[in-house]
Amino acid sequence: MTNFEDSREFAGTCDRDDPLATFREQFNFPLEKNGRAPVYLCGNSLGLQPQIAVDYVHEELANWHHHAVDGHFHTAHPWVTYHRRAVSGFVALTGARESEVTAMNTLTVNLHIMMASFYRPQGKRRKILIEAGAFPSDQYAAASQLQMHGFDPEEDLLLWTPPEGGLHLRTGDLAALLEREGDEISLLLLPGVQYYTGQVLDMAAICELGRKHGCMVGLDLAHAIGNVPLSLHQWGPDFASWCTYKYLNAGPGAIAGAFVHQRHHENQRFLHGWWGNRLETRFEMRPDFEPAAGAEAWQMSNPPILALAPVVASLQLFEQAGFDALRDKSATLTAYLRWLVDKRFGELIGTITPDDASGCQLSLIVRHPSIDARGLFDKLCELNVTGDWRYPDVIRVAPVPLYNSFEDAYEFAERLGAALSAARS
Ligand SMILES: Cc1ncc(COP(=O)(O)O)c(C=O)c1O
Repeated sequence: MTNFEDSREFAGTCDRDDPLATFREQFNFPLEKNGRAPVYLCGNSLGLQPQIAVDYVHEELANWHHHAVDGHFHTAHPWVTYHRRAVSGFVALTGARESEVTAMNTLTVNLHIMMASFYRPQGKRRKILIEAGAFPSDQYAAASQLQMHGFDPEEDLLLWTPPEGGLHLRTGDLAALLEREGDEISLLLLPGVQYYTGQVLDMAAICELGRKHGCMVGLDLAHAIGNVPLSLHQWGPDFASWCTYKYLNAGPGAIAGAFVHQRHHENQRFLHGWWGNRLETRFEMRPDFEPAAGAEAWQMSNPPILALAPVVASLQLFEQAGFDALRDKSATLTAYLRWLVDKRFGELIGTITPDDASGCQLSLIVRHPSIDARGLFDKLCELNVTGDWRYPDVIRVAPVPLYNSFEDAYEFAERLGAALSAARS
């Protein structure tokens, strides 16, 4: 974009013209530090607290207080079906059908539960493919699934790597890898957005390639949900899961989401627990298992309501704002921050997030040997800028369209300038 201006007035005008600006007031921001208001750009790690989430948690504490065990069945939103309150929000953000999504567990747990169903090695088709820079939990989960089946991750965990010297994954390289080894691969376990670089992967193409080569496809949408558009039903991964504490703002360790494509709802093998039994017969306490319809059958335990209430609350804000409007703002806001950093500090700081495949996260790297990247990050923290540090040298910042403003982007550039001066002196 060329019509941006490097001035506080310009940022203020953008904020005044922003139809989503009032959502910011519905969030609780962290405290002042060293006399400075927070510039919070860390929704890629932990989203801010929506005020409505506090109300929803209090409501369930009050239900427990006043109704005790009757809260399961006899309140306005009985706990026994409370998870269904997340369904419409998940549908809107993932492009799934209602029966394909549910709220349960946490992300890594769900990846394992899904792999119990969808990683089914047979003969020489036994490998799992991940990307070389996969989030460690996904690497550990995939490697341990291989080990549980008696295989050796050294041999059977395949890596999709960026070209030598590069950082970005190319769909063409995945296609070539699958041409070579596709008949030995059982499962592709890949992210929607790469957590380190912020690159948005071509999820539609990944699903198509997986299908073409007879592999199952599972997506980790931790950095994608609430950030970039998704069409899960249409793209057709076999399963997906996402956490809700990043862009979905549901709080630390909040209950995650899971997707199982409709084509697997009948006759699929999966791990059973009583919460996956049809509600109609669940409390008859029969010895035999009668699966619920759709993704709900994958539930096992009754969910922690206090960690689910903020998910339900927060999804309402997304429904009110509308994802298309959020995505429009996100594209402009992130482009503005990128433009400011490049214009002011382009010789010192680079952005490794691809321009044409990004959500709201930007991953910044220090380009100049005179600057210690970690020192720069610590200085930003002192100035009450919250981004996050990813070893060995990346500072991630994410202007989130629900609660960040254009003035936040401007103020970030100001404080980055001050931090750079301090880091160089
Ligand atoms: C891409 C990705 N996958 C998995 C996880 C692990 O999430 P959890 O601790 O909820 O299992 C994270 C956490 O940040 C993540 O970013």
